[in-house]
Amino acid sequence: MTEPKKLFIKTYGCQMNVYDSERMAEALGGQGYVETKSADDADMILLNTCHIREKAAEKVYSELGRYKGLKAEKPDLKIGVAGCVAQAEGEEIMRRQPLVDLVVGPQSYHRLPELEAKARSGEKALDTDFPEEDKFDVLKNRPKAKRGPTAFLTVQEGCDKFCAFCVVPYTRGAEVSRPATRVLDEARDLVDRGVREITLLGQNVNAYHGEGPDGADWSLARLIWALNDIDGLERIRFTTSHPNDMDDDLIEAHGNCAKLMPYLHLPVQSGSDHILKRMNRSHTAESYIRLIERLRAARPDLLLSGDFIVGFPEESEADFQATLDLIEEVKYGYAYSFKYSTRPGTPAAERAQLPEDVKDERLQRLQSLITRQQREVQDSMVGKTVSVLFEKPGRFAGQMVGKSEYLHAVHVQSPDLTPGTLAKVHIDSSGANSLSGTVKAVL
Ligand code: 5AD
Ligand code: SF4
Repeated sequence: MTEPKKLFIKTYGCQMNVYDSERMAEALGGQGYVETKSADDADMILLNTCHIREKAAEKVYSELGRYKGLKAEKPDLKIGVAGCVAQAEGEEIMRRQPLVDLVVGPQSYHRLPELEAKARSGEKALDTDFPEEDKFDVLKNRPKAKRGPTAFLTVQEGCDKFCAFCVVPYTRGAEVSRPATRVLDEARDLVDRGVREITLLGQNVNAYHGEGPDGADWSLARLIWALNDIDGLERIRFTTSHPNDMDDDLIEAHGNCAKLMPYLHLPVQSGSDHILKRMNRSHTAESYIRLIERLRAARPDLLLSGDFIVGFPEESEADFQATLDLIEEVKYGYAYSFKYSTRPGTPAAERAQLPEDVKDERLQRLQSLITRQQREVQDSMVGKTVSVLFEKPGRFAGQMVGKSEYLHAVHVQSPDLTPGTLAKVHIDSSGANSLSGTVKAVL
């Protein structure tokens, strides 16, 4: 028997890249690769890159530069670049960094076995097409390894929204939804392998409109209801959503669908209507707030999280203050904030930019507000009973860690619990980044 070849994948960016990296490892599993955690003993290194914010390409080039010595020692080592930087830069990557053997865009991972073979034969292998076939469908003949209790499942890719700051519509292409039957089959397969919580992924996941088994287009709400019927699946989440695609059925599902968790990531980006307009967001601060009210009417304990960009071109102090006011009003459980960074090829990159120190100062103010808010929301869990899906042992003996329905990390002292157990937990205290509690009942 030949020794398996070793594959090292370094993943940058969003959860969708995490999912894609798993699929790439499975695709190359068929070519005799097993994963390794160290680049030093790899026969193939793949960088699964992200292009969403600043200097992404430069970071990739400097990471590639670090592999020079390794490649000199090991001429058979193959180096590949995948993900959104691969899509955006294409052939340029091999021109600028000749040690790269393979470049593959996010829509072509199912072609990795052929590309790997080409690279092994000494040729340069490049594929940044947007092919018609479902890349995940072609990837489905994979080993049925046991899985942990939580998993991501990509149901939709690409985006047609064209926010003025964002590269996604260019790197991931137009919105495409996977057929519902494929999603349901994959979900059942994950459950058979031990998964109890599935997070549906898409750049614009609530715009999902995959073909259903009845031939009709299914909405995300309809897909969630079908997932709700899968025995053994206990929890459903989805991310990321656009406010304009939050339809009535999806709002209602948050009220009625037992397995849909009371957590929603719903980025608003800014609280100023002028800036929202210049961002091409096609909603206002007011319409966003009304939407949150409707969601909370359906599910009063819904925990919200958001994304914010500070220092977008033309953002005045008053515009920024409107963002802080919106945050005060919504009260987020989690929030992610970024300084605006120019992405070549996007409309806002051409506009006059704000000074760096203004961006820095605003980011700091916004972050101190959301840190306080996050802590308040987390502290408000003390004294409540939540449900926790346990994932792994904690740092201390006898400790187990899991996530509540609101996505807070929860620690308990309970040596008999195993990963995958769902339990009712009384929350006793709130720490810097997690809650501690006592198990009341195993579900
Ligand atoms: N600059 C800063 N933040 C950005 N995001 C997307 N593009 C940019 C950019 N050019 C942020 C948005 C988005 C999140 C994933 O990344 O807030 O919701
Ligand atoms: Fe980018 Fe999201 Fe806007 Fe689409 S909706 S362009 S992915 S920020």
